[in-house]
Amino acid sequence: MSGPDGSEPGAGHEQVASDGPAATEALGAALAARLRPGDVVLLRGDLGAGKTTLVRGAARALGAAAPVTSPTFALAHRYDADGVRVAHLDLYRLAGLGEEDEELLEDELDGPVIAFVEWPGPVAALVEPRVRVEVDLRHEGGDRRRIDLRWRS
Ligand SMILES: Nc1ncnc2c1ncn2[C@@H]1O[C@H](COP(=O)(O)OP(=O)(O)OP(=O)(O)O)[C@@H](O)[C@H]1O
Ligand SMILES: [Mg+2]
Repeated sequence: MSGPDGSEPGAGHEQVASDGPAATEALGAALAARLRPGDVVLLRGDLGAGKTTLVRGAARALGAAAPVTSPTFALAHRYDADGVRVAHLDLYRLAGLGEEDEELLEDELDGPVIAFVEWPGPVAALVEPRVRVEVDLRHEGGDRRRIDLRWRS
């Protein structure tokens, strides 16, 4: 039997519920513990679903001291963490990928970096070989969110 998206249920797929921003941050921290330099995390879900909130928890757990804010207008923020750099990209405003954008992306992903990418559409194919987990966040009324994690083997 296959799941709604055609994939086999079970393998690599985890689903968790969050009842508020703190729980989503904690999930980000738990997720971060399973990442290695070179990994890319794709984050999908509607506006306000909690993508940046999850990255905040992850970046803090990785040792980033600076406050994690949304990079919507900057496209990318980077944080120095413990032995790794955290890159946080938000490509909501990026319609397509120009040459300059590709260079920016390569710069951001160069070296020991763990990258979190919100609205990854334009770069999904490009970063595919480095994707470790896809995270999908959904509103479920009020502060409740459903979070699906699909880990790559
Ligand atoms: N369970 C929850 N998990 C995460 N955020 C929550 C939750 N409940 C309420 N919130 C609130 O929802 C908002 C989530 O904002 P956040 O910037 O993380 O979303 P986003 O998915 O990154 O949106 P965008 O696509 O605009 O970047 C915050 O104001 C946060 O406090
Ligand atoms: Mg965001």
